[in-house]
Amino acid sequence: MPNQPEGKDAGKLASSRLRLMEGQIFAGRYLIKERISRGTLSAVYKAERIGDGLTVALKVLLPKLVVDERAAGLLRHESAANARLNEAGPEDGKDGAPNTVQHPSLVCILDSGFDEPSKLPFIVMEYVDGLTLAATLEKSVRLEEQQALNITAKIAMALAHAHAKGIIHGDLNPGNIILLPTGAEDCQLKVIDFGIAHIENKDDAKGNLPEVFGSPHYMSPEQCLGQDLDARSDVYSLGCLLYHMVTGFMPYGNDPLSPPLSPQAIIMKQLANKLPDWRTMQVSETVNTILKGCLQKRPESRYPSMAALLEELNRLSPQFVLPQGTGLEQAQDRPGKAQRSTTIRVQITLIAVALSVLLLIMFFLSQAGPR
Ligand SMILES: Nc1ncnc2c1ncn2[C@@H]1O[C@H](COP(=O)(O)OP(=O)(O)O)[C@@H](O)[C@H]1O
Ligand SMILES: [Mg+2]
Repeated sequence: MPNQPEGKDAGKLASSRLRLMEGQIFAGRYLIKERISRGTLSAVYKAERIGDGLTVALKVLLPKLVVDERAAGLLRHESAANARLNEAGPEDGKDGAPNTVQHPSLVCILDSGFDEPSKLPFIVMEYVDGLTLAATLEKSVRLEEQQALNITAKIAMALAHAHAKGIIHGDLNPGNIILLPTGAEDCQLKVIDFGIAHIENKDDAKGNLPEVFGSPHYMSPEQCLGQDLDARSDVYSLGCLLYHMVTGFMPYGNDPLSPPLSPQAIIMKQLANKLPDWRTMQVSETVNTILKGCLQKRPESRYPSMAALLEELNRLSPQFVLPQGTGLEQAQDRPGKAQRSTTIRVQITLIAVALSVLLLIMFFLSQAGPR
């Protein structure tokens, strides 16, 4: 039998098993309104901050996991990742620039802590009034290509910002994207849930995480193998999202006529199956190119960074002119390994062109010389 707390601790645990109820005050300062979601580790509630009435999203560890130090660590981890995302860089605040780096497509964490009576750790975020991409795909099955590409571009911009801060999201899936209600032309969204993010140079970042953790349908092969991740893993997951948006299916998803696949079976497909054929879905050349650039099994064959993906999107569809301050500039300043090799390739090409021009000039000079 698992360790069971006894006496006083058992009493505390019994009371903590209760689900938070509408009208309850949590941590002395949040009035619970309604439960929005219940995951495997935590539940998210809509709540009101007492004092100023601000509507917030409160993410609380599930009471049954209150004795699970590892699970509690994940919420602390999420809070640390978000703090890093909002850390001011050396240039912020200089020459009149704003001293904040809050990205428009990332949520702001307002508070975090531990509720003494229930023993539950929690984080509090700005409440995003929108519909998750998961709910949107349930309603409409597949999206118009232009909308799918707009969403892809916005996610790529948010992640370019995160990558520049040394954070790999690691769990891109439709439940972690909230679309805001905007006009048809516009697209605003928030990327949420940095609960299993990989944080560069953070000692306990891996210690808190199980070896393999994420949503198998959107996980890169290297993540399926529990290997170290870099920006290219998020590039792969974003490719899986784009595939889902334009085709209505997950790349290595279920055949609707067969029983659901186990997570292990999906992982095997991510690792070993050849790329799914999306051309039968008659996608545009732009989508075809972007999917090919994202969904390669080998990280070195993918876009090296979100900046590279966005550049390609910009080249193929010039309407994706990238606004300043999206994080793209920082991402370009910090090339990853593969991006450096692209840079080297470009330099070699330039040298080759310069040599050819020189040879041509020498040839013409020799022809034009005294006869
Ligand atoms: N800041 C927020 N504003 C509004 N809804 C949110 C917010 N954060 C999370 N949610 C809702 O809660 C769900 C689960 O949140 P998430 O952080 O992804 O937790 P989990 O770890 O369970 O996946 C999301 O899919 C979304 O519906
Ligand atoms: Mg989530």
